[in-house]
Amino acid sequence: METKIVSKNFDIPNAHTIEVALKNTRYESIHNLIFLKPQTVIDMIKASGLRGKGGGGAPSGAKWQLASDYIGEKYLVVNGDESEPGTFKDRQIIAKDPHLLIEGIIVTCFAIGAKNAYVYVRGEYEEFSNILQLAIDEAYAKNFLGNGAIIPIDITIHRGAGAYICGEKSALLESLEGNRGHPRLKPKKPEPEFYFGNPTLVNNVETIASVPFIVLHGAEAYRAYGTKDSAGTLLFAISGHVNSAGVYEVPFGTSMIEYIEKLGGGIKNGKKLKAVIPGGASTPILPAHLVKEAKLDYESLKALGSSLGTGGMIVMDEDTSMVKALKNLLRFYHHESCGQCTPCREGTSWVDKTMDKFINKSATHEDLQILKGSSKSMNGQTICVFAPAVSGVIDGFLKHFEDEFLECIV
Ligand SMILES: Cc1cc2nc3c(=O)[nH]c(=O)nc-3n(C[C@H](O)[C@H](O)[C@H](O)COP(=O)(O)O)c2cc1C
Ligand code: SF4
Repeated sequence: METKIVSKNFDIPNAHTIEVALKNTRYESIHNLIFLKPQTVIDMIKASGLRGKGGGGAPSGAKWQLASDYIGEKYLVVNGDESEPGTFKDRQIIAKDPHLLIEGIIVTCFAIGAKNAYVYVRGEYEEFSNILQLAIDEAYAKNFLGNGAIIPIDITIHRGAGAYICGEKSALLESLEGNRGHPRLKPKKPEPEFYFGNPTLVNNVETIASVPFIVLHGAEAYRAYGTKDSAGTLLFAISGHVNSAGVYEVPFGTSMIEYIEKLGGGIKNGKKLKAVIPGGASTPILPAHLVKEAKLDYESLKALGSSLGTGGMIVMDEDTSMVKALKNLLRFYHHESCGQCTPCREGTSWVDKTMDKFINKSATHEDLQILKGSSKSMNGQTICVFAPAVSGVIDGFLKHFEDEFLECIV
């Protein structure tokens, strides 16, 4: 079941050091670049069906093309903010195989014509950021980076300061430019991101770490895993009431319940499964009967009324209070709203405060209507998708577990 493409070197002792990395195929895809044109590499990424692994699942090849076609000095920004609750996959790559990420960055910069890359690492990840910096230093020393390299590229790490919203790509770029991490208005037509006005590609850590395999083995080899529309694999994370919380790479299309039972070790203490938040906190919850139907791919989870997100599953057993679980999430979103848009700033505050009444069992039917109304008041009227995602989370809990909320009404 486990399929090790990105995680191939994770179990090799000291794979984070360049000596061990070089003995285990790292930097080999760069030799292939000597015979390839940048556009050929972009075409390979398109043909592989690679989709962004930061939550949105956007086709990577099309994004690369947009950045490549734009005239001007280009940049690559790697999103390692990883602050979505339940998500802890990118840090595995950084800690266990940082040279894979560096190799992916070199290939990507070659393809889009960038000379500088920034890796934006979550503020709390000091340990992982230090590991990556050591690996970057080693790569410079061995002439894989810098002026002496075949493809001369510089990589700089930028640490965040703990704001969830800085994972959103345009807020991340604002933060990288030294501004407050506020998301930007979306353009009317497809275009790359911009860093100080320069065309920029933003990709997630795992997306970039998937690139060397494709360049080394070909698009078809990648497509051999997964489904037609969700090609390849993902480092799915599992946490909550399971025996073996962790990160396991499997092909898209794998059965969710099998993953939970076989890799997650099943539910703790022999309890029954109640629900799973499938792809990080911002994806709508699925009750146990739908978990049994779910496949770990974009299409299956969409059809079940949720989404794949980052693939970080949060598993809840039969004793979990859905009222307390939703309160926990809404407190987080209230704290993390960047405050630019009134429906989000005020809405996240209202729903969080309303949840206190459900927790104290002093809620009214009007309070339930406030929660239900959030999908109207917070959806589609904001700069970024943070607020609509919050209302989607509330809708999911009420759709499947309304009885628990009704029990808290006086
Ligand atoms: C509120 C919010 C938080 C996000 N956090 C992250 C994050 O921590 N890491 C990430 O890679 N993408 C995150 N994203 C998605 C990014 O905006 C962006 O789509 C992604 O980095 C693009 O890379 P990809 O195409 O490789 O997935 C977030 C989006 C939103 C709306
Ligand atoms: S939706 Fe929320 S997080 Fe997004 S820009 Fe508006 S206020 Fe900020």
